[in-house]
Amino acid sequence: MSMITIRKEFHRDVEAREALLDRCFGDARFEKAAERLREGRLPAQGLAFTASDRGRVVATARLWNVSAGPSRPALLLGPIAVHCDYRCRGLGGELMRHALDTSKRLGHRTVMLVGDAPYYERFGFSAAATGGLWLPGPYDANRFLALELAPGALAGAGGLVSPTGRIEPKPALSALIARTAHNESARAA
Ligand SMILES: CC(C)(COP(=O)(O)OP(=O)(O)OC[C@H]1O[C@@H](n2cnc3c(N)ncnc32)[C@H](O)[C@@H]1OP(=O)(O)O)[C@@H](O)C(=O)NCCC(=O)NCCS
Repeated sequence: MSMITIRKEFHRDVEAREALLDRCFGDARFEKAAERLREGRLPAQGLAFTASDRGRVVATARLWNVSAGPSRPALLLGPIAVHCDYRCRGLGGELMRHALDTSKRLGHRTVMLVGDAPYYERFGFSAAATGGLWLPGPYDANRFLALELAPGALAGAGGLVSPTGRIEPKPALSALIARTAHNESARAA
């Protein structure tokens, strides 16, 4: 029996999330144009999600701050992946809806992604609004999709999509921060 919950991603999920993404996409995932918008950045605030089944990471989805051409804040969704043992039970759809609802609630106006239109069309994504935009690297234009969370949010959009997210701390620094937080909570306890 599974007990799946969709929740915020925690630091302790990172290793299992990376293993899941390796399994779903292999090393090719680091060569995608979308990766150029994620590398060295942190996900958008409050928009990194994990689905877990009794502590086991079974799905992941994250969104990233970008600009859709000059001065037009937007989100990039991905990668999204569901463990093969858990597919075709509606979990991917539930995770997508959770990610989109949370994005809207946080005031975001547009979500873009690179993916299979036959899957993402069911959530309202289409290539119609991305015609004037381009990504920093090779991609198939038919797979570059967007959803306007606010009607007209991409009207007239044109230009390069560029990363605007918070810079990811260097590993040594993040380890130091984690250690400090751990020490502080141990002292407070
Ligand atoms: C895509 C993915 C996240 C869907 O997760 P899921 O939990 O199986 O999704 P759901 O159960 O909500 O939906 C399943 C439906 O989507 C369809 N579907 C899944 N992937 C699809 C695709 N690439 N294109 C078209 N339809 C797709 C299934 O055939 C199924 O159809 P049905 O409802 O008619 O039976 C999952 O298949 C996955 O992790 N794939 C590997 C990684 C990946 O491709 N990520 C997306 C990048 S484009």
